[in-house]
Amino acid sequence: MGIVAMNRETSGKIANLSLLPADPIYGMQLLFKSDVRPNKCNLSIGVCQDTQGKTLRFHAVDMAEKNLHNNPYSKDYLPLTGLASFCTSVQELVCGKNDSVTTVQTVGGTGALYVASKLLCHAGISQIFVPDPTWVNHTPLFTSAGLTVSSFPYYDRANACIDFDALCDALNNMDPHSAVVLQASCHNPTGADLTKEQFKILSQIFRKRNLFPLFDLAYQGLGSGIEEDTLGIRIFLEDEHEMLVATTFAKSFGIYNERMGALHIAAPKKAHDSIVSHVRAIVRSCYSSPPAHGAHIINTILSSPELYSLWENELAETRNRLAEQRNLLYSAFQSVKPGFSYAHLMQTKGLFCLFDITLEQVIFLRNEKALYIANDGRICISAINSQNASIIAESMQSL
Ligand SMILES: Cc1ncc(COP(=O)(O)O)c(C=O)c1O
Repeated sequence: MGIVAMNRETSGKIANLSLLPADPIYGMQLLFKSDVRPNKCNLSIGVCQDTQGKTLRFHAVDMAEKNLHNNPYSKDYLPLTGLASFCTSVQELVCGKNDSVTTVQTVGGTGALYVASKLLCHAGISQIFVPDPTWVNHTPLFTSAGLTVSSFPYYDRANACIDFDALCDALNNMDPHSAVVLQASCHNPTGADLTKEQFKILSQIFRKRNLFPLFDLAYQGLGSGIEEDTLGIRIFLEDEHEMLVATTFAKSFGIYNERMGALHIAAPKKAHDSIVSHVRAIVRSCYSSPPAHGAHIINTILSSPELYSLWENELAETRNRLAEQRNLLYSAFQSVKPGFSYAHLMQTKGLFCLFDITLEQVIFLRNEKALYIANDGRICISAINSQNASIIAESMQSL
């Protein structure tokens, strides 16, 4: 049931609104903060951490900010579509050079997905399919934008792998002009990504069934590489789909609270002006214009060869560290030999890995072992270190 329907009986009185459950991820952070146990361990939040467990800061970002301090930019409103130079540089980063793409800056990846949903509504698309499982915010976000949300099979929890046959079957049975969300890389929450061959097959099915692709790219550079993580997007672009790509730069630049995102729109060039006129109308009625600071940070980095190469190296270090952290936990599991499967830790990528455990088991780990993992069994790899790996493995073994 939607939030509005839940409260229909109280209409006209905000004081009568019922208390809604806390957001599953943000709510967990509050619980973690108030936990006084010294051995507590937080694997629930999806941010990249440094070796001290603090949110990772990129030196390239610090240097870009110094540069901006010495060369201040105007504090005037940005255009509704954002900073033009930012849009040009991030478009190339995500889509390569491609005349069929036009890009607008958004308020984070969430804003990009919201504007995308509204644009789909303007185009007469009312149904959207999301992978099962997917990022916890997809369904509420698309629902609140006015789309009808259903899911398609993506991940086989018991066997810890993508169920590609079931996925293709589901696509082959969708109504034409349905929108379908594909995560480009580092799938949240499973870390299980589609291969090049699978993306090629999907592109053909989308074409045959007349489905509308909406890519969500939230972890560019944290899976296989900056360009490698856009593989599926590039395949669909090459096949000339009309499509949308929502991106966030929160994780890839470590600037979560700058709210940096972009929506890339692929359509014949002659349609760009009309499409962007709809985007402007959506943005104006929603948040009016996006924030400037993060756009200047990213633009400074992407337009300076030195800062770009520093950022690229820092991103590669972070990616390699995630692979080492997977290894640490894998080895710890090997030495305690738990009764459940963990081999997929080494086959998945990015910030997350999903374990086939129940909500009761998640609550047990939190209450009895001070181990915080997301309610769906997702753990954040970035929080693993040589001190906590064996404790995590032992706690999970006790299930
Ligand atoms: C898959 C996915 N899409 C979109 C987002 C939203 O990004 P932002 O925080 O920039 O709104 C996230 C954030 O965690 C995500 O994991």
